[in-house]
Amino acid sequence: MRKLFVIGIGAGDPDQVTVQAIKAMCQVNVFFLIGKGAEKQELTDVRAAILAEYARQPHTIVEISDPPRDRGVPASGADAAYQGAVADWHEARAELLERAFAETDGVGGILVWGDPSLYDSTLRIVERVLERERVHFDYEVIPGVTSAQALAAAHRMVLHEIGEPLHITTGRRLREEGLAAGQSTLVMLDGECSFTQVPGDDVYIWWGAYLGMPDEVIVEGPLRVVEGRIARRRAALRAAKGWIMDIYLLRRSV
Ligand SMILES: C[S@@+](CC[C@H](N)C(=O)[O-])C[C@H]1O[C@@H](n2cnc3c(N)ncnc32)[C@H](O)[C@@H]1O
Repeated sequence: MRKLFVIGIGAGDPDQVTVQAIKAMCQVNVFFLIGKGAEKQELTDVRAAILAEYARQPHTIVEISDPPRDRGVPASGADAAYQGAVADWHEARAELLERAFAETDGVGGILVWGDPSLYDSTLRIVERVLERERVHFDYEVIPGVTSAQALAAAHRMVLHEIGEPLHITTGRRLREEGLAAGQSTLVMLDGECSFTQVPGDDVYIWWGAYLGMPDEVIVEGPLRVVEGRIARRRAALRAAKGWIMDIYLLRRSV
């Protein structure tokens, strides 16, 4: 049976690649790189640099360009039209991966940013390919350092209070649902500085952008004091580089 490795590669710093990931990469004959478009060329470059450094055995790289996603449908987690648009996009990606896998030989590998378990569609797409039953393979998941861990390390912090839960969510859901009561809230995928919409003078923020990368920036402080600085910095960085990835933790003081 053919094998596919889904390999978490960390959130941007090639030194975050684990020994387990390196061992998996060394068994792979063909890597499938799913491209995200020119503005995120740097992310593709990080993957290419990781392969150049760690995947020393002969291998081929098959680039799969991301199918367009229907962005006309308003994003709302509970909304059927939105769920449908995401499902269509997953199906389109599954078809492309299926074709690429069928046209190649040997052990396959997909490098996943951070860890495959957090806000990443790779595992859902791999499951879809298997459900379609046109190509047959076994797959193994290699965990990676997530941006959540990179944020915690950069700020030298524990993500939750002693014995308390941690809530992980997106910027959109933070805007829709507000800050979860009594919990530390980690926010990913926020293109709109949603922290500025969180009310109250008792919230603290730990923010980080391009974590583990040469342009890493971190800011922390009382939300009302630093929110404007973060929003301006974020806008300037995004304008200068053409893209940004940031993550933050919010917590109300008790
Ligand atoms: C599609 S999700 C992928 C998350 C990834 N699977 C992980 O484990 O970190 C992308 C989001 O992760 C966060 N992220 C990933 N890498 C980051 C980095 N190096 N610095 C800051 N945020 C990052 C951002 O919130 C970004 O919007």
